[in-house]
Amino acid sequence: MKVSLLTKPLHAADGDVLIVGAYAEDKRLPEPLAHLDRTLGGQMAEVLKEEQFQGKTGQLSHFYTAGRVPAKRVMVVGLGARGQVTAETVRRAAAAGVRRARDLGARVVSIDVLGDPLPLGQRARAVVGGAILGTYTFERYRKEKTDKVVEELRLVDPDARRAEALNEAIRIGQRFAEATSFARDLINAPANEVNPTYLAKTAAEIAREGKLKLRVYERAECEKMGMGAYLGVALGSDSPPKFIHLTYHPPGRARRRVAIIGKGITFDSGGLDLKPADGMLRMKNDMSGAAAVLAVMRTLPALKPPLEVHAIIAATENMVSGKAQRPGDIVRAMNGVTIEIGNTDAEGRLTLADALCYAVTRVKPDEMIDVATLTGACVVALGSLCAGLLTNDQPLADRVKAAADLVGERVWQLPMIDEYKEGLKSDVADINNVGPRGGGAINAGIFMKEFVGDIPWVHLDIAGPAFSDKDLPLCPKGGTGFGVRTLLAYLTDLK
Ligand code: BES
Ligand code: MG
Ligand code: ZN
Repeated sequence: MKVSLLTKPLHAADGDVLIVGAYAEDKRLPEPLAHLDRTLGGQMAEVLKEEQFQGKTGQLSHFYTAGRVPAKRVMVVGLGARGQVTAETVRRAAAAGVRRARDLGARVVSIDVLGDPLPLGQRARAVVGGAILGTYTFERYRKEKTDKVVEELRLVDPDARRAEALNEAIRIGQRFAEATSFARDLINAPANEVNPTYLAKTAAEIAREGKLKLRVYERAECEKMGMGAYLGVALGSDSPPKFIHLTYHPPGRARRRVAIIGKGITFDSGGLDLKPADGMLRMKNDMSGAAAVLAVMRTLPALKPPLEVHAIIAATENMVSGKAQRPGDIVRAMNGVTIEIGNTDAEGRLTLADALCYAVTRVKPDEMIDVATLTGACVVALGSLCAGLLTNDQPLADRVKAAADLVGERVWQLPMIDEYKEGLKSDVADINNVGPRGGGAINAGIFMKEFVGDIPWVHLDIAGPAFSDKDLPLCPKGGTGFGVRTLLAYLTDLK
């Protein structure tokens, strides 16, 4: 979608559809809608009255303008109560409006910078983000593709003095949303295509396009580094593991070095502790963390934050075969810690253990954030719309949480209860990879904490929000790209 700024008043904006917003409590149309309505000869007020339009969120009304204004149709989207409008209200309203415009066959859509109680930049980002996220489709594997596509979106604002700020906000909104689409595509593509080799190839493309540094370690090199936890998971698969390390260097001096680590299980069958059929069905999404991290790295060269950013993905499948890891096996992680495999389906934390060790010893970051579809327990705790956050450093957690809030991704902190380490005791090794059922998301965090040393670290368990079984306001069924916008907001210090 091409996105630009249209420096004109609403009543002069053209396009197949012009989208404007209305608030619940407004009895009369406020300016500049009143001006638009006057140009329309009172048509908008009349239609809204006739349809008993109340301006509630999700409400939508549109009409043909018959040449009274340059736009062919005007669409009004409800924004709810003015005092309660948030950036998320704007994102969802823009998404619903542009989606409907698309379904009406619109190719060029003009849209007001919705949400006037909010800061201008936030509003513009939210409009653009909502429009792109809300019209995402995944049709790569279909013969018949929809021909209804919004090709051009124009944000309408009459004041040329705001053009610079608006153009910058448009750029950010677009980059963030397109990065999210990139992650969605990777997640939605099936595991017979997206295997570890595919992830490594994708990393290579990203490195080439963005002039990033890339190192992909093969199995033998990982063996040399002592990554027994990661390689144990890879034993059952015929697809070779790929340990991916991408680095972004800023143009100037880096203020900090940050590692972002994505869980990259391209398919999680559970291993010998095999998942039941309905639990396995969506496990192509077990690389959603990796997809998020790759999408972020693809976008950083355009955003140029003054940070050194290292992306690390220990990619593998978790499969069954005569070579697969057994329950009861003991493996040794890169930091020498021995792990008893209490359950082969708790594989993510094993791959992350070595990825974290690698980051700690080879990258030595100032801080690290991992993103992982780690536990069903986190879905039980927080449901499908919210990620769990665990940390060993509250200030870092607060910053990540603030970034998530800003982009509308829900994140909720879970307590790191050190006593739960008791539950991870093994009779034969330093630690077991599983604990008791209760507090499963916390147990996983406690397990991983053994591998982070004293580096400030945040773990995001995205098992719930990474994938959706139903259409959401900003995402159709399937991979959501959750985490991409939070990471980008965090890394670019978005306000
Ligand atoms: N990939 C799963 C977690 C998951 C579950 C992601 C549901 C998305 C939706 C992970 O590897 C896993 O299987 N975890 C086990 C851990 C258990 C064996 C301690 C789980 O949650 O059941
Ligand atoms: Mg598993
Ligand atoms: Zn998994």
